[in-house]
Amino acid sequence: MRTPRIDTERLTLDSILPSDAGAIYRYCQDPEIHRWVHTPDPYGLPDAEYFTGTYAASAANSTELTLWSIRSGRAMLGVIELRHEPLASATIGYWLGAEHRGLGYMTEAVHAITDYALSPTGFDLRRVHWEAFVGNHASATVAHRSGFTFEGMLRQSTVHRARRVDAWHASLLSTDTREPKAGWPL
Ligand SMILES: CC(C)(COP(=O)(O)OP(=O)(O)OC[C@H]1O[C@@H](n2cnc3c(N)ncnc32)[C@H](O)[C@@H]1OP(=O)(O)O)[C@@H](O)C(=O)NCCC(=O)NCCS
Repeated sequence: MRTPRIDTERLTLDSILPSDAGAIYRYCQDPEIHRWVHTPDPYGLPDAEYFTGTYAASAANSTELTLWSIRSGRAMLGVIELRHEPLASATIGYWLGAEHRGLGYMTEAVHAITDYALSPTGFDLRRVHWEAFVGNHASATVAHRSGFTFEGMLRQSTVHRARRVDAWHASLLSTDTREPKAGWPL
């Protein structure tokens, strides 16, 4: 899906470019990204070049995936994706380079992207789904602060690095408020 540019107070969210490969390669040396995200491990420069070139271009031409680069000024900070699904739904995924965490950037970006995704003038979705491996408190905190409702844990429902793992699930509906909801395992 073509990437709509979205501006927030501190960030610009726009298309991933081939020139982002160096930053993505550097950020994806972080074990925390390998622990929680389905990235190639080890992560080489050719992986970043493929992601920012072929993969991003084919996402832009598909109806299945929207990818955003998170930028502050000239710096590329991380990535957000929306994986489009039937019934006006999509699953959100995200990561930030380690030195850009702890500053509220991801909560700001998720808020803006879910606003766009659920708006009749944006993707006009009814539901955004969030999923993380059990124990990913940083990701859960972002979803909680963005107004997602925790829906539970699905045992061994996903596979990561050839092992079955339990996953937390949550959702944000187009009719929901953005107030943090009770019931998160945080
Ligand atoms: C998920 C991620 C994008 C969040 O980035 P961020 O918004 O900068 O948030 P932080 O990492 O600072 O964490 C958000 C909050 O969770 C808290 N937190 C972080 N790690 C935690 C942990 N292991 N246990 C409990 N709380 C934790 C932080 O203290 C922070 O709260 P605070 O603002 O009150 O201090 C980032 O941590 C990341 O890229 N992680 C690796 C990739 C990843 O897990 N992606 C999500 C896959 S579902």
